[in-house]
Amino acid sequence: MLFERKKPLDLILETAQKRSLTRQLGAFDLTMLGIGAVIGTGIFVLTAVAANKAGPGMMFSFVIAGIVCALTALIYSEIAAMVPVSGSAYTYSYAVLGEVIAWMVGWALILEYAVAAGAVSVGWSGYANGFLHAHGIGLPVALTAGPYDTITLPDGTTAQGSFNLIAFLLALLVTWLLAIGTSKSAKVTAVLVLIKIAALSAFVILAFPSVDNANFVPLLPNGWGTPMSGVGVLGAAASIFFAYVGFDAVSTAAEETRNPNRNIPIGLIGSLAICTIFYLLVAYTAVGAMGAQPGGTLSQSKEPLAFVLREIGWPRIGDLVAGAAILALPSVVLMMMFGQTRILFTMSRDGLLPEKLSTVHPKYHTPFVVTWLTGIFVALFAALFPVGALADISNSGTLFAFFMVAAGVMILRRVDPGRVRPFRTPLIWIVGPLAMGGCLLLFFSLGWYTIKLFLIWAAIGLVVYFLYARRRSHLAPGNEALLHAHANDPKLEPDPLVQEGPNAGP
Ligand code: ALA
Repeated sequence: MLFERKKPLDLILETAQKRSLTRQLGAFDLTMLGIGAVIGTGIFVLTAVAANKAGPGMMFSFVIAGIVCALTALIYSEIAAMVPVSGSAYTYSYAVLGEVIAWMVGWALILEYAVAAGAVSVGWSGYANGFLHAHGIGLPVALTAGPYDTITLPDGTTAQGSFNLIAFLLALLVTWLLAIGTSKSAKVTAVLVLIKIAALSAFVILAFPSVDNANFVPLLPNGWGTPMSGVGVLGAAASIFFAYVGFDAVSTAAEETRNPNRNIPIGLIGSLAICTIFYLLVAYTAVGAMGAQPGGTLSQSKEPLAFVLREIGWPRIGDLVAGAAILALPSVVLMMMFGQTRILFTMSRDGLLPEKLSTVHPKYHTPFVVTWLTGIFVALFAALFPVGALADISNSGTLFAFFMVAAGVMILRRVDPGRVRPFRTPLIWIVGPLAMGGCLLLFFSLGWYTIKLFLIWAAIGLVVYFLYARRRSHLAPGNEALLHAHANDPKLEPDPLVQEGPNAGP
């Protein structure tokens, strides 16, 4: 039977117990970690993309995407507190929905994480190129964007990119840092979070007095949007969903959390709530201060928040906000890429991908093969594609994974009702279907082109599964001996987000 091959939850928990990472993180650390992973290219850059799709109505797009994420966060809280292992949607699915679905989720998470890392690199390059240009050391225009991207020059004319050099280099730099096991401390994460929050606060405070009602008219120049058109309020919601992605990073630190049943839900829901408040304020003030009509100046900017501040008479602060983005966004690339390497590593350890991928570096204790493989792809995505396209593709994978997690949590309530659930999603039979419906709505609000790419990717995934992964799986008949093969291996470098935390254990 196709769906019967499952990895028992108890086996997953047992392996995690053997690893026995120090439980050192509290609710505050987790909330910081969540915000650290969430605030990035979405709000700093895709605000322009959303304006181009929805006009001032993009404010509603932020609300819609936020609601879908809030519902998902409630559901993630249940599974992450119940199975506090360093895993992800892939691990949960393996236990509940079976191997083939877990494989598809893992395969989709490649879109979520690797493509998102590319998107954030491109978003970062918009601010970094602006900075270099302002200091007279700007790169030739063709090297500031990929071949499918158009750049609006200061004189209003447009030019075509060819290779986004600086985004490419950033992705390689982050790869190298991960490969040599460079880790950021929880303190660095907290400082970067404060920088981002300070930048967004400054934006809201300074832009607020310039809000002009005339800028909200017409409110919905492209309407609410039709399925698969990728425009209108729903089309923009499907894109801006990217701004919220990353709160699930909190669940990957579950094994390192004190009192996870209390702290994980607080971290997941708290970080998302804080980000949502900032996003709604930024969206409202950006629209009100500048106007956000499709094709207008805001919608074409590669550094929209700095652009707004410069236009309304705060050029210095605009530069500082740009500086905050330049400082803080690389850490989001690092988090996304880290997530990617750990998922591929786990899939390889489960036998679904070649064993070679999970080779651990003897000196740095990092999965360097999979890190470099990921990094090279991320760098190429970043060099060649526009940020909006990458974010949409990433969202398609994330929405699929979120949908499956919601299904899994509901199924688990039925098939394993007796298992201890430290956090129970309130009103699961309402919240669950709503979350799944929300994910479907956003998925089908992406453009047809993105959906097509997702379907092609999924089809390739299925072929690889049946030609390779299914037979090599450690759960395949005859491979049982491999199931415990790695139980006693030395552990990897811990999550770079959480190492050396303020309460770090031995
Ligand atoms: N939410 C993250 C960002 O916007 C991925 O950069």
